Amino acid sequence: MDYETAQRHLQTSKLMGVDFLPVCNSPQCAEPSSQQSMLDALRVEHETSCPHCTTVTGHKQIVFGTGNSSASLMFIGEAPGAEEDEQGIPFVGAAGQKLDQIIEAIGLHREDVYIANVLKSRPPDNRTPLPSEVALCGPYLKKQIEIIKPKVIIPLGSPATKYILDTNQGITRLRGIWGTYNNIPVLPTYHPAYLLRNYTTEIRRQVWDDMQQVISKINR
Ligand code: URA
Repeated sequence: MDYETAQRHLQTSKLMGVDFLPVCNSPQCAEPSSQQSMLDALRVEHETSCPHCTTVTGHKQIVFGTGNSSASLMFIGEAPGAEEDEQGIPFVGAAGQKLDQIIEAIGLHREDVYIANVLKSRPPDNRTPLPSEVALCGPYLKKQIEIIKPKVIIPLGSPATKYILDTNQGITRLRGIWGTYNNIPVLPTYHPAYLLRNYTTEIRRQVWDDMQQVISKINR
């Protein structure tokens, strides 16, 4: 609750004769972290001002991002698909289930990490985001990173890797190679949808190697 709203509630309560406030010390009553409040404010700003998401049509809803507002690890995908567009949550379809398995395999849960996309509205027919779309919506992803300040960023697939590392090189060249974004270590890996389409021992091993590297970097 923001300051003005809280003040209005207090004034109304006082007018109604309430002269004490019950204090709740349980974790459920704790104030949301300032990072969470900043993300909430950014979500509103994005929803009302993103020059891409406020003008495109054909999607059902904006998919802002989900997870721990102070996560050590942040995953970045491409754009919402059909299931994400339905639910308003990133990575909830088949690729999302694979991502969940990857997260669990490194001893974390979805709630521990933060998951977002380069583009926050589903492109028509799930096509790859256009550079012009990324240029308009992408800065909000950068603001999310600025608030969360993760220890490691994992871009999943080419569009996220290209945007975060500001490169034209694709995922096959950059997978498993550390880069940096604003001093934050970045390790590109395959998109889980690619992994599902190419479920070979070699591709699985490469993703597993990447995750091992990430975990040792976070725990260092
Ligand atoms: N693929 C993505 O890149 N992002 C999602 O949220 C879902 C599928």
